[in-house]
Amino acid sequence: MSSSDRVVLALGGAGTVGSGIVKALLDKGFRVAVISRDGNRLEKLQNFITPSTKDHLYTMVGDVGTEEGAEAAKTRLLKSVGKVTDVVSSLGFSWWQGGPPHTQTLKELHQVLETLLLSTFTSWKAFFPLVKDSASGTYTFITGGAGERLLMPGTGFLTLGAAGALAFCQVVRAEYPDVPCKLNEVKVNMGVATAERMGPGYINHLDLGEAVASLVEKRNTSHKVFSISSPADLKTVFLEEKV
Ligand SMILES: NC(=O)c1ccc[n+]([C@@H]2O[C@H](COP(=O)([O-])OP(=O)(O)OC[C@H]3O[C@@H](n4cnc5c(N)ncnc54)[C@H](OP(=O)(O)O)[C@@H]3O)[C@@H](O)[C@H]2O)c1
Repeated sequence: MSSSDRVVLALGGAGTVGSGIVKALLDKGFRVAVISRDGNRLEKLQNFITPSTKDHLYTMVGDVGTEEGAEAAKTRLLKSVGKVTDVVSSLGFSWWQGGPPHTQTLKELHQVLETLLLSTFTSWKAFFPLVKDSASGTYTFITGGAGERLLMPGTGFLTLGAAGALAFCQVVRAEYPDVPCKLNEVKVNMGVATAERMGPGYINHLDLGEAVASLVEKRNTSHKVFSISSPADLKTVFLEEKV
């Protein structure tokens, strides 16, 4: 199956991390579908990608953060694009630093968990069945090292949400050890930014996007966690796995 026969659903594809992945996938010839709650973000994405790949990008406003929303988005998506062969999930948000836990509310914790963990679950529940039984299918989670440590004072809820996402990926690997599709996680232990917002400790979202797109393209490994802790890892980590 050539890249143009593959349709990759990029969950979170309008975000910082997701937009780099979407551009790289389109540049490799894939067809890509993106669902976002925000039409403006989708428009920005359309203006960001390589113009000649525009015909291969399908965008849709939707909320995959509930079971009903994710199912409804799936039905609409399949009607429009016909099939989904691959999924890359980079849902969540870039940053949260609301303060130490005693200053926070339960409502805030709910919001953090909804964005980082619950939407990852509800969208996975809807879309994993589309790819899991196919040996040529892939499901790739993008997670963050924030889940393993407090990044700096006041980022505790980010750690809780990101830790939930890390654990969820671990659970999926353990509960579905034999699925034919390639199930992988790319854990980024650095900040990810667009070229304009780059700083020390950050990697460019386009470089990450290219690495993730290669992983999706080659699909010769499964049930792996690829940890990215330096720009060099974007090349070597994947090479070690002969991707
Ligand atoms: N940014 C970093 O520095 C960094 C570092 C390491 C790892 N990561 C990983 O990458 C993930 C994404 O980060 P980011 O910087 O790309 O965040 P972002 O720019 O806020 O993008 C997140 C995307 O998730 C989408 N989303 C969240 N809930 C949704 C829902 N219910 N339905 C539909 N779309 C939903 C958002 O869509 P809307 O357009 O609807 O808002 C947004 O496009 C993080 O959660 C983390 O796991 C990020």
